[in-house]
Amino acid sequence: MCGVVGYVGDRDCAEVLVDALSKLEYRGYDSAGIAVFENGTIKVDKCKGRLSNLVEKMAQDGKPDGHCGIGHTRWATHGEPSDINSHPHGNKRVTIVHNGIIENYKQLKDFLISEGYSFVSETDTETVAKLLDYYYNGDPFETIAKVIAEIKGSYALGIMFRDFPDRIFAVRKDSPLIVGVGEHENFLASDVPAIIHYTRDFYLLEQNEIAIVTKENVKIYDVHKNEIHKELNTADWDVDAAEKGGYEHFMLKEIHEQPTAVKTTITPRITNHMPDFSSEKITAEELKNYNNIFIVACGTAMHAGMVGKYVIEKLARKSVTVDMASEFRYRNPIINENDLMIVISQSGETADTKAAMQIAKNVGATTLAVVNVKGSSIAREADKVIYTHAGPEISVASTKAYMVQISVMYLLAFEIAYANGKITREQCEEYTRNLEEMPDIIEEAILLNEKCQFVASKLINADSLLYIGRGLDYALSMEGSLKLKEISYIHSESYAAGELKHGTISLITDEMPVIAVATQQDLVEKTISNIKEVKARGAMVILICAQEVEIEDSVADEIIRLPQAEQLLMPMVAAVPLQLVAYYTSVLKGNDVDKPRNLAKSVTVE
Ligand code: G6P
Repeated sequence: MCGVVGYVGDRDCAEVLVDALSKLEYRGYDSAGIAVFENGTIKVDKCKGRLSNLVEKMAQDGKPDGHCGIGHTRWATHGEPSDINSHPHGNKRVTIVHNGIIENYKQLKDFLISEGYSFVSETDTETVAKLLDYYYNGDPFETIAKVIAEIKGSYALGIMFRDFPDRIFAVRKDSPLIVGVGEHENFLASDVPAIIHYTRDFYLLEQNEIAIVTKENVKIYDVHKNEIHKELNTADWDVDAAEKGGYEHFMLKEIHEQPTAVKTTITPRITNHMPDFSSEKITAEELKNYNNIFIVACGTAMHAGMVGKYVIEKLARKSVTVDMASEFRYRNPIINENDLMIVISQSGETADTKAAMQIAKNVGATTLAVVNVKGSSIAREADKVIYTHAGPEISVASTKAYMVQISVMYLLAFEIAYANGKITREQCEEYTRNLEEMPDIIEEAILLNEKCQFVASKLINADSLLYIGRGLDYALSMEGSLKLKEISYIHSESYAAGELKHGTISLITDEMPVIAVATQQDLVEKTISNIKEVKARGAMVILICAQEVEIEDSVADEIIRLPQAEQLLMPMVAAVPLQLVAYYTSVLKGNDVDKPRNLAKSVTVE
């Protein structure tokens, strides 16, 4: 959370910083700010609210005129969103932007106050700025090295020293930061989309590496000032990937990108209609031999893990435990070196997921990361990585990342089931072929657009909603419910349909719509009974079911019939209308779909 950018070159720095920040707003959007060298001084512009507020402010007050600077978009942790708490922080001599949390900021702040410093904001970041000033001896490198030896926690820092108006400095630990390399211009950014407009080439900064970035040069050192010659990475993302491309919102664009994302993710992992993870150095033999499988993730990624659990257990008959990373960490889990932990993360930076993975590493379990962002912390720290190829996901509400995560879960399930002797080669080929057909079927599901828009119009006045399903459909309804609540701000819960009568059914009135997911043939009858129970108590019911299910139209108020697909793969189809219903409900309520309140996409705090 929080986005950090920096620029040195010939362009109008303020413009580049604002443009780069606009691609990072998914990391937080409580406030924004930039600092630019103007005639040898550091000029700071910052304010509460969206980046557009900052742009407006600069249009009125005049934007800084310079070619070297840093910028920030904030997701508040220490101190409410306000002009004062916005980044950059510092004084006329040293100014910084920061992503992360300084855990020992209170002690440092007390010390600095005792040394005569005063503080204006409630942020942990201001402590770092003042500590840099305190240690400053004319040598920025030495100063930074001293400061990072004292601060505890996570940080990606962009730093400007007044005495060095031709350069920016950067250092990171546990929060991502890249240095973009252009021609006669260089960049800093928390993530690739910020710079892809200008360059595809970048260095990944490792823990506590210090970068000195000028117009012509990028020098990277370890804390002892040994220069590090790093490999230049090249982003393979499309330049348009970080743009809306004619869609009203990123979320809608990303829903439409799902067929391609799935295809690009599964194709390199299939050979002759069989799963093939040889490029990831994952063998069927090893997958078969793990004792227990743990899947750990947060939010939508955890819901993808739920689908993974159902399919791995169903096909491979191996026990799988799914945990929210924030719970796994503190429940003293029974995991050992014979176990496999699969961590799922779009960003590869989620703090709780990273920490949960560390627990598995500490006991010698094998860690396998399913991650979208190349070179992210989780990808780098895991024993093995399967990259999903969704491209950049900008909308805070995840759609295409979820879809590709479950496509990988299916392939893993097929591989483990076959290796375990639970399905034959023919069955494995059949399942894999079915998966290969999914991009086309997802495309068809997107055609349910209008129907979903209509259903959304019936939901916008509800205060609360219930999603129900059984088995895989329950896993799916969890994701449907999360999607709706995060962007429409309507309270919703997902509930195992069979469990309703043990309490939750008392909530049902004619003011509580119920969305029932029933794609699994063997459970559909049971779910229909539950639908009848809620309908009898006045609920408006929206049923999402397979095309071929024989039910009377009167069972539900609205029925969304899905295109045909292999039953086990139905979550990939049903996810689409669930996403679209959430999307249109949010649009109809006039919400900011891509940037829902209080949220951020990349959650690097615990
Ligand atoms: C945040 C996002 C969710 C995401 C979750 C996990 O809460 O808003 O969309 O599912 O983090 O993120 P990850 O990057 O680890 O998948």
